[in-house]
Amino acid sequence: MKKNYIVPFLFSMSILLLLSINIYSQKFEKLALTPPMGWNSWNTFACDINEQLIRNTVDEIVASGMKDAGYEYIVIDDCWQLDHRDSLGFIIPDLERFPSGLKAIADYIHSKGLKFGIHSCAGSRSCADFPGSRGHEYQDAITYASWGVDYLKYDWCNTEGLNAEGAYITMRDALYSAGRPVVFSLCEWGNNKPWEWGAKVGHLWRTTGDIINCFDCVVDHGTWKSWGVLPILDKQDELRKYTGPDHWNDPDMLEVGNGMTVSEDRAHFSLWCMLAAPLIAGNDLDKMSEDTKEILINKEVIAVDQDPLGIQGFKFISNPEIEVMFRPLVKGDWAMCVLNRSRSSQKFSFDWSREHISDDLSKRKTQFDEITYNLENLWMGKDAGTTQQILKAEIPSHDVLMLRLSPIRTDKMK
Ligand code: GLA
Repeated sequence: MKKNYIVPFLFSMSILLLLSINIYSQKFEKLALTPPMGWNSWNTFACDINEQLIRNTVDEIVASGMKDAGYEYIVIDDCWQLDHRDSLGFIIPDLERFPSGLKAIADYIHSKGLKFGIHSCAGSRSCADFPGSRGHEYQDAITYASWGVDYLKYDWCNTEGLNAEGAYITMRDALYSAGRPVVFSLCEWGNNKPWEWGAKVGHLWRTTGDIINCFDCVVDHGTWKSWGVLPILDKQDELRKYTGPDHWNDPDMLEVGNGMTVSEDRAHFSLWCMLAAPLIAGNDLDKMSEDTKEILINKEVIAVDQDPLGIQGFKFISNPEIEVMFRPLVKGDWAMCVLNRSRSSQKFSFDWSREHISDDLSKRKTQFDEITYNLENLWMGKDAGTTQQILKAEIPSHDVLMLRLSPIRTDKMK
């Protein structure tokens, strides 16, 4: 090459390099305009997973009505791989557990109109000590794309020395360059405040350590803790400004049907919907009781969770026994959830004419003096009067009253 061509040549090469970096420096947009819904193997089965379980779960999601209710992603959590990579560094599925291989399982999931999710880890090893993606991000992303993976839950064990944002960006870019749209779920437990940087990296980020099937307890395992429903709820207050369409706070997967009482399951589910949380069921669908199913597929409650505005609810009254949350919804509606945190039933009354709900974040407020709202009791599935009458209720221990308020249109409002 002649000397006077070298500078322009190098210049155009660097432009090309910069462009190619930019092309792959993003997440897949608009994959999670409402909080993702699905099922994940971890909460019930941990490492006790296999192909039959996944196939049965897929069948149950369809047969139970969960698919119709919106559950979409079937996510295989930790322990699906062998404990070493192949000689070229590719990840190997455990064919004893999954004899047909993961591509065939993905095909089965897709054939039912559902989507396929998998788990990996930003560290060298996963939390259950299987190979993580550190140093193999692009290789793994290509492998997932070849299997038909639609959702990646990306964990944070064994990440000593790694910068969290950087590590998640590396995997984001690897997924993007592999070309198959993947919902990217950051499972970093909130240690490095992923709500501050996660929106450009993934579609949801864990805000806490692992959930446990207990309504009001924290279990200390020494180096880490697991958290019940109420302690997780209480950690979400300051985070609502970070959540929204395509970038969700994730207070962890559901424990509905995993041993709490029906009241507690109902409260847990309602609260997650008030928070605009991802709804990832974690129970054994084969053994699901009618009570559990009714909770998981209540379409009116799910509609609160999936409200297109994507505004997280907030606490309006907070005392040790009774807590009241409100959440602004489309068309001027509101969701209201009255939670009894105590161990005995509580009487509750709410005089609308004396209350004024105002949300600085969404700039929404109620005008109970000027607008009458219809009340729908979302768990009873019935009309509950209007805001013209004082609301009176008795709420069992660890249960909720959940209402949807819809303005009654008057000529004055048109
Ligand atoms: C971490 C995650 C859990 C689960 C396990 C698997 O603890 O937070 O949700 O994925 O790893 O090992």
